[in-house]
Amino acid sequence: MKTDFLIIGSGIAGLSLAIKLSSLGKVTIITKKQKAESNTNYAQGGIAAVMDVNDNFELHVADTLECGAGLCNEKAVRKIVSEGPERINELIEIGTRFSKNNGELLLGKEGGHSRNRIIHAKDLTGKEVERALLSKISKNKKIKIFEYYFAIDLLTYKNLKKKNGNRNKCYGIYALNVKTGRVEKIISRKTIIATGGAGQVYLHTTNPAIATGDGIAMGFRAGCEIANMEFIQFHPTSFYDAAIDENSSQVFLISEAVRGAGAVLKTRAGREFMHKYDKRKSLAPRDIVARAIDNEMKKSGDPYVCLDLKNIPDERIKREFPNIYKYCLSKGIDITKEMIPVVPAAHYSCGGIKTDLEGKTNVDDLYASGEVTMTGVHGANRLASNSLLEAMVFSDAIYDSILKEKTQEGKKNSGKNIASKEDLDEISNNVYDWNDDGTENTEEWILISHNKKEIKEIMSDYVGIVRNTIRLERAYRRMKMMRDEIRTFYKKTKVNVELLEMRNLVTVAYLIICSAMLRKESRGLHYMLDYPKRDDKNFSEDTVLIKSSESR
Ligand code: FAD
Ligand code: SIN
Repeated sequence: MKTDFLIIGSGIAGLSLAIKLSSLGKVTIITKKQKAESNTNYAQGGIAAVMDVNDNFELHVADTLECGAGLCNEKAVRKIVSEGPERINELIEIGTRFSKNNGELLLGKEGGHSRNRIIHAKDLTGKEVERALLSKISKNKKIKIFEYYFAIDLLTYKNLKKKNGNRNKCYGIYALNVKTGRVEKIISRKTIIATGGAGQVYLHTTNPAIATGDGIAMGFRAGCEIANMEFIQFHPTSFYDAAIDENSSQVFLISEAVRGAGAVLKTRAGREFMHKYDKRKSLAPRDIVARAIDNEMKKSGDPYVCLDLKNIPDERIKREFPNIYKYCLSKGIDITKEMIPVVPAAHYSCGGIKTDLEGKTNVDDLYASGEVTMTGVHGANRLASNSLLEAMVFSDAIYDSILKEKTQEGKKNSGKNIASKEDLDEISNNVYDWNDDGTENTEEWILISHNKKEIKEIMSDYVGIVRNTIRLERAYRRMKMMRDEIRTFYKKTKVNVELLEMRNLVTVAYLIICSAMLRKESRGLHYMLDYPKRDDKNFSEDTVLIKSSESR
């Protein structure tokens, strides 16, 4: 396959970019499962943007910076905030049906926000956005989506037969065609990683099974800078299910918007506790709420705390949170009458592939957008509902950057296509085909497949909401051993989805642990019992990891 623009991932970052790039050339999207399966599809609360006369950009910027605990890049924050209304209007133009009241957008509230500014579609915002984007794309002949194509690795310098220059540059990817089992080479002029997050690295997560950190691991192997991986956001309120299936890590989210509408956190015995931790009580930023819940559960020995919705009228619960109402009812809980048992669960990766304000990585012709990135917006803790916004704004920035480059090239080459067929053929001929000589379908698979559970257990036990040096060192030793084992196994085994995901999970787990060990302070989502204070003198910079070129 050869294409002008290759986008890996069909969530909000990939799809919104595809629509724009299609005006500049042929767009190919690959996605590892069905096209709608993404974190985007599960987003509940909504998208933060300043759309009300009682709100303004400075307030949204201030809330984001405060939540980010001194690590945000203010330029990136100002970018997403000031472009928010425009991006929301684009979604409305393509047919996204947001919740309204008397013709006006209904604005919800979530933790850390000083104003009501969450644009939403009931409690199914992501599903509605994904529907609208896919529907727009289905009518566009310049965009092709290939489902069940799994991106394995980026094609870079080391994959070239004839090396050219020293700069690390991306030429496309190797991808597993899951249906045929064959690995194909996809050559592209520009490659965009939009593969989302890595929640599956933990035992319990709000993320679906696709969120195995593939893009981060792939980027790391290709020489991308990976930043701030220690900042894993735990959502305070996922549905506690004692009968959770051991094989499925995904838990159901109870949106923060429910607390925004008036629900209150209580112990199992029915006592409020958030006033002891923050004056914003149940609507404090997520790091504070998740730690408070963790502390209350440890003190009481209870396996969960509760969310009491009695302040919200029944009719409003059913109208604004139909999905949550229905889910809880299916579990035997009528939330208009009973409290919901909740626990924190891994939710969002604030770190990822480091990009600049144009969405560029440090590898030429390689861009990244969405949860897979570290743009500087979230710092040490993401403000609720800023991630869908960040994905749209940075995808738009990538489009602008490529358009600018094309316009400059066009001037030089009097209109020559950005990716002429000859160029792509030339690149393709110079890139090695996938070589799996010496690999086999080994019977050791059963041994190695246990590693997946072990990775998740280590991360949940030692690299969770509260950390310390001894636990991190223990996690490091174990993860390093597992990483070596999986690497050795990978080299001699024919690739399949499970193996590829495990290789990526262990890499991402390792990156999280290494980053956490480097930050000997407590800030935002990274809380260290033996370094309980924020240390601006020594740790006010991002944590950046990069693989040495010899070992890539
Ligand atoms: P995703 O939407 O996750 O898309 C990634 C895509 O990449 C998928 O199509 C996946 O299949 C594909 N992919 C991954 N690896 C590969 C590979 N190796 N090869 C090929 N394809 C691959 N944020 C908000 O702002 N507001 C909210 O209300 C909100 N609610 C949330 C609720 C839940 C339950 C969850 C899980 C997250 C929520 N978030 C919310 C976070 C937000 O949904 C995500 O950060 C955002 O959707 C990420 O979008 P994305 O396009 O970067 O990635
Ligand atoms: C939620 O609805 O609580 C999730 C919002 C987010 O993660 O931004």
